[in-house]
Amino acid sequence: MNFNVAVIPGDGIGPEIVSEAKKVLDKVGSKFGHEFTYKEVLMGGVSIDAHGVPLTDEALETARKSDAVLLGAVGGRVGVDSWYKLPPNLRPEAGLLAIRKGLGLFANLRPAYLYDELKSACPLKESIADAGFDMVVVRELTGGLYFGERKTEEVNGVMTAVDTLTYNEEEIRRIAVKGFEIAMKRGKKVTSVDKANVLDSSRLWQKVVAEVAKDYPEVTLENMLVDNCAMQLVKDPAQFDVILTENMFGDILSDEASMITGSIGMLPSASLAAGKFGLYEPSHGAAPDIAGKNIANPLATILSAAMMLRYSFDLDKEADAVEEAVRQVLKDGIRTVDIMSEGMQQVTCQGMGDAICERI
Ligand code: IPM
Ligand code: MG
Repeated sequence: MNFNVAVIPGDGIGPEIVSEAKKVLDKVGSKFGHEFTYKEVLMGGVSIDAHGVPLTDEALETARKSDAVLLGAVGGRVGVDSWYKLPPNLRPEAGLLAIRKGLGLFANLRPAYLYDELKSACPLKESIADAGFDMVVVRELTGGLYFGERKTEEVNGVMTAVDTLTYNEEEIRRIAVKGFEIAMKRGKKVTSVDKANVLDSSRLWQKVVAEVAKDYPEVTLENMLVDNCAMQLVKDPAQFDVILTENMFGDILSDEASMITGSIGMLPSASLAAGKFGLYEPSHGAAPDIAGKNIANPLATILSAAMMLRYSFDLDKEADAVEEAVRQVLKDGIRTVDIMSEGMQQVTCQGMGDAICERI
């Protein structure tokens, strides 16, 4: 089959890691008889440099017309790159928010998995790391504080800023359905995270999630307050399967979940719209300090491409092959510098892409 992929290399290490992911997709294509056609799209700082805005309407349109989007990373260094002298709505990260909203990418899946081979990188106590963990944060991505009304104004002579946290029951229901569907394919447990002891939006969240849960009798539902969840993630991460939560809580908790794997360069993510369309990107950022050095870890982007094969193209066998190649590379002791340890073989970004292709 032929698939059209919009590719957004972005800033920093984005171009290097995306080109390894394309290399891997092409290897999958030749092995399994598919063709991937790529259209490059500018977003983030590179788009600001070229067009003065982080995402043009044309770029959004190209992404919309594709079958799926593969993204590297956007952003630079605050205080160093001139992009950050622009108003907030014109900075690189605004491109990310615009593409999420513009393409209706309401479901953000961020798996956090502790690889056996990388257990020593886990910053938690050995007794906790030994138990391992395998969870996915399902984060609502187009609502809540990120997209509510905001303003800064003087009220009675005092500067006052307002950000609005809004959710309606439809927005909650569709993300809850995704969370439960994903749980059905995994450990059949959903931990719905909220702040229902304070927030109205959380109380509505709990009510709607409980309604959705009735359609999934096999799935165990647990409600957890977000502050408790932050503690449980470092105390007993093995208890989690699917963490279902709103936009802001999901932003924070998914960083915490990725940190305890000790290897953020390994973590993919998917942002899904209704239907099969999705945008796939590594969970890490643009890492401008190591850009252009051919030392970045491309595995998170390669694993994001695997998620694209699985969720947008229904190519499960092909996705398995990529994920298996990643496990094999780790078993074979091949490492980029960020996950390097004694006795292992250190490779470049390109070297890692090649090592994966050899194992597909
Ligand atoms: C993320 C990032 C973004 C977010 C920023 C860059 C706007 O932190 O994807 O988690 O907060 O969603
Ligand atoms: Mg974040």
